[in-house]
Amino acid sequence: MMRAVYVDVPGEPENLLLQIVPRPQPKHGEVLIKVHATALNRADILQRRGLYPPPAGESDIIGLEVAGTVDTLGPGVKARWRPGDRVIALLCGGGYAEYVAVPEELLMPVPTNLTLCQAAAIPEAWLTAFQLLVLIAQVKEGEVVLVHAGASGVGTAAVQLVRLFGAVPIVTAGSSEKLKMAENLGAAAGFNYKEDSFAQGVHDFTGGKGANVILDCIGGTNWEQNVSSLATDGRWVLYGTMGGRAVEGNLLGKLLSKRGHLLCSLLRPRCLQYKEDLVKAFSHRVLPHFSDQPASLRPVIDSTFSLEDIAEAHRHMEANRNMGKIIIKVSPQNQETQ
Ligand SMILES: NC(=O)c1ccc[n+]([C@@H]2O[C@H](COP(=O)([O-])OP(=O)(O)OC[C@H]3O[C@@H](n4cnc5c(N)ncnc54)[C@H](OP(=O)(O)O)[C@@H]3O)[C@@H](O)[C@H]2O)c1
Repeated sequence: MMRAVYVDVPGEPENLLLQIVPRPQPKHGEVLIKVHATALNRADILQRRGLYPPPAGESDIIGLEVAGTVDTLGPGVKARWRPGDRVIALLCGGGYAEYVAVPEELLMPVPTNLTLCQAAAIPEAWLTAFQLLVLIAQVKEGEVVLVHAGASGVGTAAVQLVRLFGAVPIVTAGSSEKLKMAENLGAAAGFNYKEDSFAQGVHDFTGGKGANVILDCIGGTNWEQNVSSLATDGRWVLYGTMGGRAVEGNLLGKLLSKRGHLLCSLLRPRCLQYKEDLVKAFSHRVLPHFSDQPASLRPVIDSTFSLEDIAEAHRHMEANRNMGKIIIKVSPQNQETQ
């Protein structure tokens, strides 16, 4: 048996209940991970409210990522993993628990200089940012990339990756503190969308050319400024709709006049093969840079909560208070691997 967070009735944070449930058994090709830490994602809030059910056949326990140690290898596991190895993993669900079974190809080694709590901040945000920039937008050296929610989990990863790939990140955020943090991570400019028009900021920064790429998790409320901030032939990548889903107005005409590309992406419903390829490419191109001396990349941690305080952690995220990732410590008793 194991402890896990369950939502019997969709709703508010207090509906997240710590329960004793059966430990998952690793199926063919899966590895059972003993979870030391997981991390929050916006999708968790939607799932808690009953608005984002897990893909068919996946765990109905919330949680898209973990860091921990290899516990047991399921039948047919062929790769290099051994019991006790420190690993991180991308999940379709099941992270808010003491154990989770994961296809072996979705595991990555923890960079040597990171604790498991730090490493838990990597899988979902960094794989998402990497996928958006490399596979979807195909960002090139010297291009200007506008990253909305620049202090979010995905935003803090995206800013650093844009720099790693030789492009120029600029951000929006809702406070000067968040903008400062994004600038410390490498953003060349930041715009407080609550105070000023970011479209004007992008126009001034790019000398009227606009951003070559926009990473947009806001959607509705931003569409008009987004299309006006886009460079000719630019790529506007929609991967969230925190600012609403409906648009009204001349979106298509404005997009057409810029020969703009509107690209949409969701990672969780992708097939296993796609995720395997993504994890492989990320492990090759990005993961080693967390161990550079000095480190070129760092997971940005906002705060750490215990599994018992999961409701408080959800409230913290819903209030937009976090800068970087919110970590949930699942196994606090193991001091060595904190
Ligand atoms: N498509 C995918 O595959 C995929 C994968 C992972 C995440 N996502 C999406 O990526 C986004 C970021 O996720 P995360 O977990 O990194 O989030 P997070 O760390 O919780 O940060 C989200 C931040 O977005 C800003 N925000 C919220 N509502 C806003 C609004 N209406 N207008 C403007 N800004 C708003 C807030 O910062 P301010 O104070 O700056 O407003 C908030 O703190 C979410 O939309 C999530 O669903 C998508």
